Amino acid sequence: MKSESEAKRLIIVSNRLPVKAEIWDEIIHFEKSAGGLATGLNSLDSSYEKHWIGWPGVYTDDADKEDILINRLDSYNFHPVFLSRSDVELYYDGYSNSTLWPLFHYFYPYARHDQRFWDAYKKVNRLFANRVLEFASEDDIIWVQDYHLMLLPSMLREKLPRVRIGFFLHIPFPSYELFRTLANRDELMEGVTGADQIGFHTYEYMRHFVSALYRIKGVESDDNRFHYRGHTFSVDTFPMGINYDSFCNAYKSEGVKRFAEEFGNRYHDRKVILTVDRLDYSKGILRRLEAFRYFLELFPAWNGKVSMVMILVPSRDKVDKYHELKVSIDEAVGNINGSFSSPGWIPIHYFYKNFSFEELAAFYHQSDVALVTPLRDGMNLVAKEYVAAKARKAGVLILSEMAGAAIQLRDALVVNPNNLGEIAGAINKALNMPVAEQRRRLMRMQRKIRRSDISKWSRNFINKLESIHQWQDDLRKKYLRPSQSRAVVEAFAKAERRLVALDYDGTLVPFAARPEDALPPKRLLKILESIAGDDSTDLLIVSGRDSEFLDSVIPGKEITVFAEHGAMRRMGSEWISLFRSDLSWQPEIIRVMKEITETTPGSMIERKRTAVVWHYRNSDTWLAEMRVAQLINRLIYPCTMRQLYLMKGNKIVEVKPSEYTKGTAVNNYIEGRNYDFILAAGDDTTDEDMFEVLPRTAATVKIGKPSERARFNMESSADFVQLLEQISR
Ligand code: UDP
Ligand code: G6P
Repeated sequence: MKSESEAKRLIIVSNRLPVKAEIWDEIIHFEKSAGGLATGLNSLDSSYEKHWIGWPGVYTDDADKEDILINRLDSYNFHPVFLSRSDVELYYDGYSNSTLWPLFHYFYPYARHDQRFWDAYKKVNRLFANRVLEFASEDDIIWVQDYHLMLLPSMLREKLPRVRIGFFLHIPFPSYELFRTLANRDELMEGVTGADQIGFHTYEYMRHFVSALYRIKGVESDDNRFHYRGHTFSVDTFPMGINYDSFCNAYKSEGVKRFAEEFGNRYHDRKVILTVDRLDYSKGILRRLEAFRYFLELFPAWNGKVSMVMILVPSRDKVDKYHELKVSIDEAVGNINGSFSSPGWIPIHYFYKNFSFEELAAFYHQSDVALVTPLRDGMNLVAKEYVAAKARKAGVLILSEMAGAAIQLRDALVVNPNNLGEIAGAINKALNMPVAEQRRRLMRMQRKIRRSDISKWSRNFINKLESIHQWQDDLRKKYLRPSQSRAVVEAFAKAERRLVALDYDGTLVPFAARPEDALPPKRLLKILESIAGDDSTDLLIVSGRDSEFLDSVIPGKEITVFAEHGAMRRMGSEWISLFRSDLSWQPEIIRVMKEITETTPGSMIERKRTAVVWHYRNSDTWLAEMRVAQLINRLIYPCTMRQLYLMKGNKIVEVKPSEYTKGTAVNNYIEGRNYDFILAAGDDTTDEDMFEVLPRTAATVKIGKPSERARFNMESSADFVQLLEQISR
């Protein structure tokens, strides 16, 4: 157990550690990476003790070397996960970078589907989980990063049910139409939903994720909180930033000044267009080269006066598509330089290597234009770094609308990366842009990047994770545990006058695809009869169903039944109407519902005596959600005019007179009766009306999605029926 004064531990888990180990001549060397995530996490509140778990980027079968690596990394709080060559081939090059990466970046034909990739992905996620579990406890915060580890959150949740788990996807989440092509889409979704907080760079990616969640898991939410299998998680956007100050102040360092001077000497009277990318097909490098060629043809006056400095960082070269791309780029650069060069001028200066921070900062600082044109990119930090590094110099950013960064950097020249004419035109515009306008645009972007830098990103994420976790903890306290169930059963046994008021669908009987199939099993009927058979207990079934259905499923005469949310009551075997309102509004509401039903396959209208209900349980969830919004929009006016009650229930939209609710029904019933024990249960918002009218001492139980208006929550109707059974004994 940790002492109060000990800092909370934050454990980052990512495919790679922020250092890369290499073994040369039997000696281990480290290359420290100053990647965005590493710097961002360093700037997190010092009350966290930070640890990092990941692959060290090296293979070794030698146990001694592993030990040396473990010890050396331990001094940085880095904890390696060792992978074999075949793990890396099938999990990293395979499922991560040949299946998920292309698909999530909309390169559908590049995605390879191979059972061995998936097996290795599962195996390596399990390896990571085991490593985390050796190390973590329930009090820690575990933050899982990116598409390599999508199964990890649920694997960890299984063993540490209360631990805080965050998951952040650094790449786009694709449209459902693409995601659904994955054979293992279900397991991937299941994996991610083990987290408490799930984060994306942009609203678009989040929207796609939520839509896939609806369709694959049928999980719905009114806000950003989702309730699935007894666990509530939140989904939100957190656009990642950079370490603004380090790029903004870089020009002051001696190292950067030296490189900048060299750069100035080399290109002194020429304009420079800079491009910086990992060598990746998602970065649109070939398209950009075509666009540059087009620019040189379209604006020949610039020939000899402008050069493109193209920095490509080697990446994933064991994957065929990356290797093929390298060959094509070499050829395209050769072609352009071969066609356009003149004595003393080369259009493209091409580097295929990793540059140091100082060199990169000098490139950013000195170049006139940055051309960032990915075909798809989760965020793109290069664009932000370029703008930040322009603290003292003018410059123009040309940015693809397909990069996540384009949402924030609207003052860039935003282009469609497939439109060669647009890119060529933007280059020309950038080269001719007055310095005052360049500065104006840069300043506006700098303000945004400074305000949402990397430390803010990580703080925001962790704060959100803490707050959803706290919310869950509070709710968890309301979950009826066996000891509390016993207390309810004992209180029932001791009481002299008791009331038990129960909703039907979702409370006594689970939902079925067709409402008429949600029938009570014999065991349940026996329980209900036994409770109602006791003279000192009043049993009420308070349902939204019509009287005919309830008559057919609840036969016992001792049970008082309310139908249609309290519009009708059965006592003994007789039904009486409790409503007086006029029902002339029904045709108008039905007409609107019919129109929506016609365009929503699987939906249907139910007509009750007093109410009209639109059911969409069997429709595509995403489509139905859209139709619900449209339907409610169209019903608001007639419902307000006629003072009708418009409500959204469990896969239904219902319109009924506002004269009565389950609350008024129960309230009228208990008037003048004295109970020393009340149990009420329901799964729906309409049941909350019933909870509201009962005394605070009543044992009110919300089933499924937790509710703040009930004293207790329970996961499923099966759990609740078990409680009823104990009571009936
Ligand atoms: N970068 C680097 N060395 C280089 C060129 C680039 O470390 O020689 C860094 C760059 O500073 C940026 C990152 O690589 O932080 C690239 O991030 P980005 O989001 O643009 O693309 P990703 O590679 O993540 O797809
Ligand atoms: C993208 C991914 C990161 C990954 C990085 C470099 O930014 O989102 O998770 O680390 O590319 O790729 P690599 O395959 O070299 O780790």
